[in-house]
Amino acid sequence: MSKLPKPVKVGVIGCGTICKMTYMPNMMNKFAIIDVVGVADLIPERAKAMADQYGVKVMTNEEIYNDPEIEVVVNLTYPESHFEVSRDAMLHGKGVYCEKMMAVDFAEATELMRIAEEKGVMYTTAPDTFLGGWEQSARFYVDAGFIGKPVSIHAQHTCSYRPANPLFDLSPDTFFFPLHPGGGLPFDWGGYYLHTMLNILGPVKRVTGFAGNYEPVMKYTHPRHPKYGEDFFVDTPTSIFGALEFECGVHGTFHLTSESSGSEAFVLTGTEGTLDLGNPNNFDGTLRIHRTNMKEKPFSFGGPGGGQNGMPVAASQLGEFARPEVMDLPMLFGYTDSSRGVGLADMCYAIRNGRKPRAHCSIGYHAMEVIHGMLESTKTGKIYEMTSKFERPAPLKPSQYVGTAQENTLND
Ligand SMILES: NC(=O)c1ccc[n+]([C@@H]2O[C@H](COP(=O)([O-])OP(=O)(O)OC[C@H]3O[C@@H](n4cnc5c(N)ncnc54)[C@H](O)[C@@H]3O)[C@@H](O)[C@H]2O)c1
Repeated sequence: MSKLPKPVKVGVIGCGTICKMTYMPNMMNKFAIIDVVGVADLIPERAKAMADQYGVKVMTNEEIYNDPEIEVVVNLTYPESHFEVSRDAMLHGKGVYCEKMMAVDFAEATELMRIAEEKGVMYTTAPDTFLGGWEQSARFYVDAGFIGKPVSIHAQHTCSYRPANPLFDLSPDTFFFPLHPGGGLPFDWGGYYLHTMLNILGPVKRVTGFAGNYEPVMKYTHPRHPKYGEDFFVDTPTSIFGALEFECGVHGTFHLTSESSGSEAFVLTGTEGTLDLGNPNNFDGTLRIHRTNMKEKPFSFGGPGGGQNGMPVAASQLGEFARPEVMDLPMLFGYTDSSRGVGLADMCYAIRNGRKPRAHCSIGYHAMEVIHGMLESTKTGKIYEMTSKFERPAPLKPSQYVGTAQENTLND
């Protein structure tokens, strides 16, 4: 095992749901490379609650930006604050890890990319679920030719966000970001699907789409809500139905709405098989392959991509899955439990080891441009040609370890 480099001191801004539920426990207990110095929030009680629970300092945003020891600002605010917090942190020379999406629109995202370049700071963006076990395994199997040459991908997520939905908090002061700028389903859930697609298939060449917000004025319909009967304004696109052409030649569909009943599908087809992908919001999941010709052409690790990363486990399991036509493929990588923050941990190793971080902002920026392109296409009625590029991030090393031993796969 490689030696643990000196932990990276971070300051956390935004102590809401995801900070409390996932990030703080993971940053404090799961990743040895992360050293949380202090936390800040616009609502002081939220920062105090986190500080008291974990024994770190309550700080203001300004104190975090000006603390010479802090190297990275972890931006866990809601999307409308992402621009301001990431910008201010980078202008103070800090590295930034920002929850999804990086900004509310492509213009803000472009400005953040410019600032990161100008200041020469490391800038990474969520979602980091693409570093999880099933997603890394999916990419490995695709690269190794398990479905032949990839042909098409379909991403579908539909649900209903309405003021009577139990997700909708009954407190009049709570800000339900998925119905506000940068938080609509195309951004919020779209970010997960896009990052997975980009990690497996690489950059997108052009897109088209139909997008909109079909009911910008809703009413509070939950009888217990203090604003029952009043208007509620939705100021973000809530639906997007798009088509993508990847540079590798794959075509895809992107089908998301928060105005319908629920459904989910994420399927990648190839010339020799079809892969049912998992839920890209999760680190664990099932990878189900369908192949009609397994008897004539059993899986082989000898072809292109075979033996990648020295995959010892997969080769030994080959005999077991050479026959059936539908089967669940084994997970070959670590981080199959709730591991949000793994992108931040990877960034900390990237800082210490002088390499590129896997959740590099160029991926988040490309994902923002895909959504932007579909919104533009809706307006113009034309195909949108992508302008941004990114390199597929390096895969993680395979791991059968669980617990803290998994962290060694990030230390490269
Ligand atoms: N809630 C989830 O299940 C979930 C899951 C994955 C990712 N995320 C992402 O995490 C981010 C935060 O989501 P959340 O659900 O925790 O939101 P939230 O509204 O519960 O928390 C955001 C917090 O940021 C604080 N804040 C806002 N602007 C600020 C500023 N300028 N300075 C300091 N504090 C500020 C708010 O007061 C609030 O406490 C979003 O980008 C979201 O997409 C959320």
